[in-house]
Amino acid sequence: MKTKLGQRLSDIFNLIDFEYSQVWDLCCDHGKLGLALLESKKTKLIHFVDQVPSIISDLDKKIQKIKELDSEQYTLNTLNAENVILKDNNSLICICGVGGDVAIKIIDSLMKNNDLNNHDILISAQYHMYDLRSFLITNNFKLKKQMLSFEGKWGYELLLIRKNEGLDIDPIGKDLIEIEDKRHLSYLNKLISHYENRSRKDEVAKKVLNLYKEIHNQ
Ligand SMILES: C[S@@+](CC[C@H](N)C(=O)[O-])C[C@H]1O[C@@H](n2cnc3c(N)ncnc32)[C@H](O)[C@@H]1O
Repeated sequence: MKTKLGQRLSDIFNLIDFEYSQVWDLCCDHGKLGLALLESKKTKLIHFVDQVPSIISDLDKKIQKIKELDSEQYTLNTLNAENVILKDNNSLICICGVGGDVAIKIIDSLMKNNDLNNHDILISAQYHMYDLRSFLITNNFKLKKQMLSFEGKWGYELLLIRKNEGLDIDPIGKDLIEIEDKRHLSYLNKLISHYENRSRKDEVAKKVLNLYKEIHNQ
């Protein structure tokens, strides 16, 4: 595979099986995830989506230089991901590298405009993970796979989800955190200090803080 992936994108790539007729790389930016999936033949068709026009035109120029790819293998879309209309069943929708709040807005809007029942969604979001997990639980999403990925000093929760099929999603991902692992412990402690600061003014944050603290006592 020509496209080089960092650790987080590599972990995301490895969570994806060869089972999707098409993949939506929403918020694609550099397009590395979609390109890697095409190069490795994990899917036949990638829809690259980003809301910034210059990102899509740069990606277009980059793709034109890849001789192995032909134009039937991809579409390039300058679009707010919230407005995507899905084209088929059994596609994978990747929402990676955005905040949890942005991921919520995108999924909420996709649900209104599409039937998401026969699609998987892969999320790699930062921040607002409690809000994101609560939103997914409320909307009957279930877990197919999850992992905690580390790149540099940052931890990222990766969630592969589907409507109505799979395991229950835990509101704080307590089943994901292995506190005997130093990087996991540091990830948990960062969350705890974040919610300690917020809980001075915010009752929900106080509740979330207690949930995270309980992981220490398990
Ligand atoms: C940090 S990059 C993520 C790149 C890649 N997906 C990854 O995980 O490394 C975030 C990208 O999301 C795009 N973006 C943010 N909100 C979006 C939205 N609602 N619709 C489409 N693109 C969006 C930004 O323009 C930016 O290019």
